[in-house]
Amino acid sequence: MHTKVDGSRRYSRARIAGLIALSLTLSTICAAATALRGDRSGEEVVAEVCGACHTTGVNGAPRIGDQAAWARRASQGLTVLTGHAITGIRNMPAHGGSPTVSDVEITRAITYMVNASGGHWIEPLPAGTKAARRTGEQIYKMQCSKCHETGVNGAPRPGDHAAWIPRLHNGADAAVASAVHGHGAMPARGGLADLSDEEIRDTMFYMFNYGASSK
Ligand code: HEC
Ligand code: HEC
Repeated sequence: MHTKVDGSRRYSRARIAGLIALSLTLSTICAAATALRGDRSGEEVVAEVCGACHTTGVNGAPRIGDQAAWARRASQGLTVLTGHAITGIRNMPAHGGSPTVSDVEITRAITYMVNASGGHWIEPLPAGTKAARRTGEQIYKMQCSKCHETGVNGAPRPGDHAAWIPRLHNGADAAVASAVHGHGAMPARGGLADLSDEEIRDTMFYMFNYGASSK
């Protein structure tokens, strides 16, 4: 009985290790150009930097755990909050006052604080531990829906085949590459710096197939 449990655990550890190795390879390719310096988890960044004010609510900083305070902030969406935290807003200093905190780390720290305050956001994982690839649906709801749901600036809407088919005309790879680099009102990687090409592909197909019957 015990042996069996241990055995299957080892097996799944090996699989996870395989997935980590695979995603390491993928993220090395993807991150080669970005070369992220700071790659701490949201929890670490909050402990080292943001917590100085956000733990107790210095100067009116939304306190970690204060659901009402964070729900109001969170309604602006991760992209807007990240922008405010990077440039600073009112008594909130740019980069939380620590220029070494990378943009991705800020995204993670915000997600961490939102979730520690009753939110349900998905924390972007540190590069190399992306074993749990996020689903297209999760990514869509977290980020892409901001424009694609209502078709802001001509963003193709989920399930709108007439809008999607011409964009997939040159194949899925070309459409993914286009979304990776961004153009016009479509931000690079949909505005989520840590999104892998595979996740973009999954999300694109989620949008393309949205509402389609199985036949
Ligand atoms: C020196 C104190 C201080 C530190 C350190 C600090 N913050 Fe803040 N933060 C504030 C204050 C004050 C506000 C409220 C600003 C306002 O809305 O008037 C705030 C607000 C915010 C908001 C809400 C912005 C909005 O648009 O409503 C976010 C997000 C945020 N901080 C993220 C962070 C992150 C991430 C870090 C760490 C990297 C951090 N903060 C570190 C003081 C701080
Ligand atoms: C700020 C608004 C915005 C956000 C956020 C956004 N998109 Fe887009 N997206 C657009 C617009 C606008 C277009 C149409 C661009 C055009 O055709 O000129 C587009 C087009 C696309 C296309 C078609 C290929 C291309 O580049 O034209 C894909 C694929 C795509 N988006 C994927 C995503 C994914 C995946 C996300 C979330 C991770 C996302 N988008 C988030 C605005 C957005």
